[in-house]
This record gives sequence, C-alpha cells and structure tokens, in this order.
Amino acid sequence: MSILIKNIKQLVQVHDYNVMIVKGEDMKTLPVLENAYLYIEHDTIIEYGEMEYCEGIEAETIIDATGKIVLPAWCDSHTHVVYAGNRTSEFVDRINGLSYEDIANRGGGILNSAKLLQDTSEDDLYEQSINRLEELIRMGTCAFEIKTGYGLTVEAELKMLRVIKRIKQESLAKITPTLLAAHAIPSEYKDNKDEYIKLIVEELIPQASDLNISHYIDVFCEKGYFDLDDTEAILKAAAEHNMRPKIHVNQFNILGGVGLGTKYDALSVDHLEELNDEDIKALKNSDTMPVALPGCSYFLSIPYTPARKIIDAGLPLAIATDYNPGSAPSGNMNFIVSAACVKLKMTPEEAINAATINGAYAMGISSMYGSITRGKKANLIITKPLSDYSEIPYAFAHDPVEQVIINGQLKDI
Ligand code: NIG
Ligand code: FE
Repeated sequence: MSILIKNIKQLVQVHDYNVMIVKGEDMKTLPVLENAYLYIEHDTIIEYGEMEYCEGIEAETIIDATGKIVLPAWCDSHTHVVYAGNRTSEFVDRINGLSYEDIANRGGGILNSAKLLQDTSEDDLYEQSINRLEELIRMGTCAFEIKTGYGLTVEAELKMLRVIKRIKQESLAKITPTLLAAHAIPSEYKDNKDEYIKLIVEELIPQASDLNISHYIDVFCEKGYFDLDDTEAILKAAAEHNMRPKIHVNQFNILGGVGLGTKYDALSVDHLEELNDEDIKALKNSDTMPVALPGCSYFLSIPYTPARKIIDAGLPLAIATDYNPGSAPSGNMNFIVSAACVKLKMTPEEAINAATINGAYAMGISSMYGSITRGKKANLIITKPLSDYSEIPYAFAHDPVEQVIINGQLKDI
C-alpha cells in the first residue's frame, strides 16, 4: 500500500533528523517545506521533498493537495475519553452559580461519573468511548492518552483498563493508557481516605500491573482530593511496578505536586493553572513535560496556565484537551491549538509544536510520532485549502481538517 501526496502548499513540522522534544526559544520555529510532496508506504513516512524532486515516484493512491497544508496529526496527551453518559445537569448548575468545588462537595462531579460508569456494562462503555474517539480522529487527532479514574473501585477501574485495551486493539489510533485510581475519594471512604489509598497501593496497582496494560500512574493532587503525602505513597508503590507518573497538579492550588512529580521522574505534570517559581525551578532540572489544558480553563472559567512563563524560562510545553465529562467536554485539538494562541499567548508555531511533537513526548512516543520524519508513523492531517498554517488557530472553532491519514490509511471525513 502506498500513498503519494503532491502539490502540498506547506508541509509542516518536517525534520530530517528525528526530534523528540522542542523547548523554549526553539518552540518558535516550525520547519516548513513549501510546494512539497510526501510519499508513504504501509504505515510509514518514506520520503518527502520539494515538488521538483517528485518526478518518477509512483503510488497506488495519489492525492492532489494543491492549496492545502499537511501536518502531523495531533497528539492529545491528556484525556479521560472513556466515561459513561455526561454531566449536562452540573453544567447548568454551574451556569446558575454553583462552582466546580460546590458540586464536588455535595457528592457530584467525579463521583457522579463514577456511579454512572459502575452501572454501565463493559460493552456499552466501549461503544460510547470508541464513538467519541472516532469523531476525534476525524478532527485530526491520531494519538491519545486515556486515563481510568471513573471506576473508583478495583473492579470498575479494571473494567476501564480492559475497555482501554480493547480500544487499543480495535482502533487505528495510538493509545497510551494511564491508571488514575486516585481521581477522587469514593463516598464509602469519605472519612477513611487512608483505606482507599491502601486499596490502590496493595490491590489495584499490583492487579493493574499484572494486566500489563498501563505503564503510567496518575493522581489528582489537589485540596479535597489527594494531598502530597497521599500522592507520594501512590507514586512510590507504582514505581515498584515500573509505572511512571503523569499527574494532575496545580489545577486550583499549589501543593508541591510539581516538585514531587519531578522527584519521581514524571513523564508529565498536567494542568498548572497555578504555578510558582519553585515549580519552574523543579521543571528546569528534569525530563518532565509540563502540559497545559486550556479547554478546562475555558469551561470552568479558571485561570489559564502561564505558558509564557514556562516557555520563556527555556522549558518545553505540551497542550492537550483533558477531554472529560466534568471540566472539559470537548476533545477538539483544533480548538485547543487556537485557545493556546488566544489565551496562553503562544504563537501558532509554539502551539503546533505543543500539540504535535511535545504532545507525543508527554506520552513517551515521540520517537515514532509527532513530526514528519522519514521512518516515523504516517499519521497526518490534510487540511482544507488554507492561506497558511496560522489559519488553523486563527479561524477558531472552524474545522480545518479535510482528510486524515492514520497509520498509513486514508480516512475521508
Ligand atoms: O482533569 N482534575 C481532575 N480531573 C479532571 C476532571 C474530572 C471531572 O470533573 O470529571 C480534570 O479536570
Ligand atoms: Fe484531567
């Protein structure tokens, strides 16, 4: 199977040498080839170059991309896309004045989604989730991290892991599963949080590890959820099973989760709506990717992650959707790239770097995904005709995607 894309107006994020991460000043640069071709065999990018060198190349499928942009498909490194139902009633409650915290305090929020998920069959949960994923692939995302965290019992968390595994087997998308048992304190453990942590440490992590599905551990390190000591106990137990942290920190309060994350060599620390100089210092001495989730800030009307402070300190930054039923019910990465420009004051180049190569890094897959490089996987967006790549974030809430190539297969939208 081979595909030749010809007459590409701009081939974006092209790297002759494999790149794994882009940091600081370098995020301002987005390598582009004008009037280019791209040649794919099976699931792999084989060759690319200027149109004048395209002569003689033949392929089973030829796509004329005159006026169009081709870029790596989005890499969404933080999602909770496996969930049951929705939380529209809480959405209305918030419009009428309740806060996210008020709703959680009266037993709603994450606990609400957990109850729904526990009562949903594994097949139904799979169907709901794969349908969401298929829609997102059409919007240009081909790699997803997917978290558990709406089970909150050993049985329901393992059910979530099995659903994620099935998605991984059935879908063409690249899936990175993460165990987020410490997402909220189940009501049965309201006055006995330590027992729930013991359950996670002694039962869930070992059982999840035996299933060999997830190599990442997440904790919602936040006031009213899991404090720094709780988080450390979980990260320690997970490390014994070779599970690397990708954690929720600094969404509403700074508890020291960034420093703890870097101490345990977290692959990523996510949210960071609140951030202090100590956090920046900890990140500077680490291999940890900070991840901003502007869709959550938009939906909850909370501060946006100070991206300028992060990038201007020479650090890398990734952006992701946080797609979930409570704080960010949209998985549209095109919107996230736009919000990164408008609200986080990132340039289009920085935002596209953050949503491709750095997103791939935050899932541990950037050696094979996130840039257009010979030998990397052919996961690509072919846009509608656009003036240049800046029009993607500029025309916010428009859909720039015309076709997607996922694992070397063409998907017409
Ligand atoms: O990333 N912060 C914790 N978890 C999710 C929200 C989950 C929910 O409300 O269902 C988040 O924002
Ligand atoms: Fe999240």
